[in-house]
Amino acid sequence: MVKGQSRIPSVPMIRRALLHAEGEILWQEPLAPHTSLQVGGFADVLVIPSDVEDVIRVVRGARMNNIPLMVLGGTNVIIRDKGIRGIVMQLKELTKIQEELNQVVYAQAGVRLPRLMQFSHRRNLSGMEWAAGIPGTVGGGVMMNAGTRLGEMKDVLQAVDFVTIHGKQKRVEASTLTFLYRKTMLPQGIVVGAWMQLRSAAKGMIQSATKNYLDYRKTTQPLTWPNAGSVFKNPIGDSAGRLIEAAGLKGLRIGDAEVSTKHANFIVNRGAATAEQVLMLVDKVRNRVGRKFGIRLQLEWKVVGER
Ligand code: EPU
Repeated sequence: MVKGQSRIPSVPMIRRALLHAEGEILWQEPLAPHTSLQVGGFADVLVIPSDVEDVIRVVRGARMNNIPLMVLGGTNVIIRDKGIRGIVMQLKELTKIQEELNQVVYAQAGVRLPRLMQFSHRRNLSGMEWAAGIPGTVGGGVMMNAGTRLGEMKDVLQAVDFVTIHGKQKRVEASTLTFLYRKTMLPQGIVVGAWMQLRSAAKGMIQSATKNYLDYRKTTQPLTWPNAGSVFKNPIGDSAGRLIEAAGLKGLRIGDAEVSTKHANFIVNRGAATAEQVLMLVDKVRNRVGRKFGIRLQLEWKVVGER
């Protein structure tokens, strides 16, 4: 998130900040449909920049006018019901993807991870198998060091294409970054793309790895219901799903928010859940697991928006 100083920006101030923006501008946009869990309130404005130059124009405009600016990936995030003040930016028009020299693939931030995986596999490039079925984007994947038991972003990331809060585009080498479990330590700014160092492999090997993995996900995860991926990080040496199930919480429901009966570390939206219901359920699960096992589960999701 790139923050300005003003808490509640006025519409004229936001208009001024977006004077030079060329992409789509949606005022008072409901954000729930832009997220995989389908909860959350309105953004003052949702901006969909047409290209990186447009991202830079929005960043500079927001900074000069002190307007809070947030990038929304939409798959690992819960937006509170009161929505988000200021500018929300979605990078879904940044969809360029290309093969460079020496098995490096460059993808812009809005490229979906499964598309990047397919693109790589068509060229017999291995390294992205872990991304099979992850609904997120390259930008989100870099920010949170996305991963599964097959691997994670840091294993392949060569460099990040980055726009600083001052609106300058630069290449940040992965070797200069620190990667944590589901978090990449980046300076404040916006990821607009990434270079991934892959390696050549036989097509059959890549395909069987991803197929087994996709089958495993389909049988173990509630992929047909709106969800935001794993709710909690796995505690060291254990798994959040196992703990939640052992606490007897599968199927626990508040309104339309439900602890999945298929995988306990998922909360699904059974229709008209609100962010408040989802977050109450998160607290309840955390408290019950804490009381039973003495382990405090940590949220993998990012929670944003007005309280
Ligand atoms: N388990 C239960 N009950 C459940 C769910 C799981 O006992 O309701 C047990 C399983 O039997 C297994 C263990 O918990 O022994 C681990 O479960 P699973 O293999 O499903 O993996 P996970 O640790 O829950 C992680 C990632 C997922 C990724 C899967 C598969 C995290 C927090 N989650 O889940 O990533 O898809 O591995 O690789 O690391 C995500 O991050 O959004 C995500 C979905």
